[in-house]
Amino acid sequence: MAQSPPVRTPPYRPQILCLAGFMGSGKTTVGALLARQLAWRFVDLDDRIEEAAGLRIPEIFERLGETAFRQMEADQLRAALGRAFELRESIVLALGGGTYAQAGASEFLRSSGIPVVWLNPSIEVLLARCMTMTGRPLFRDEASFRALYAQRLPSYQQADHRVESSGEPAQVVAEILRLGIIFTGSNDAHLVVEKPHS
Ligand code: S3P
Repeated sequence: MAQSPPVRTPPYRPQILCLAGFMGSGKTTVGALLARQLAWRFVDLDDRIEEAAGLRIPEIFERLGETAFRQMEADQLRAALGRAFELRESIVLALGGGTYAQAGASEFLRSSGIPVVWLNPSIEVLLARCMTMTGRPLFRDEASFRALYAQRLPSYQQADHRVESSGEPAQVVAEILRLGIIFTGSNDAHLVVEKPHS
């Protein structure tokens, strides 16, 4: 009788992909679409923080301040990764706009072996997107938005990969898949094969 080839499912080590980028870069939209396509779980760090705090992000900033928010953000990042490893669950994790720019964040993710993709549309696209959205306490005006972007740029540049994300979310997802850092079975998106070591 012909032996069927071994299928490694679920993966022995979950695959985790982090999306970093400034406010309005499309982390949530692209991340959710990518996860759906891969049949992975999508985790939005901002949602985790809001759930843990029982408050919306603007309220956290208003009532508790940014320092407390950053502490929650760091705690929830560790919790989300810990949970994925514990459950052996592959996830796409959308970071908050400031997460990757916090001291030690890039080193922590690198040492955990988690690839980070920086979604990077032009500043004009970021501005246009954020102008029409509410709920972002760090979006005050154009000048401070540009200054914060410039200040964080060196941190985002630490990411393993950069993808221009001005276009349609589906195109950005395709671009991420083209990076070759996620391997899936040809027919079944949920059959995940780990990246071979080079
Ligand atoms: C922040 C970005 C927000 C959210 C919080 C702080 C930042 O996430 O985490 O308002 O520091 O840039 P999004 O990038 O998803 O808007």
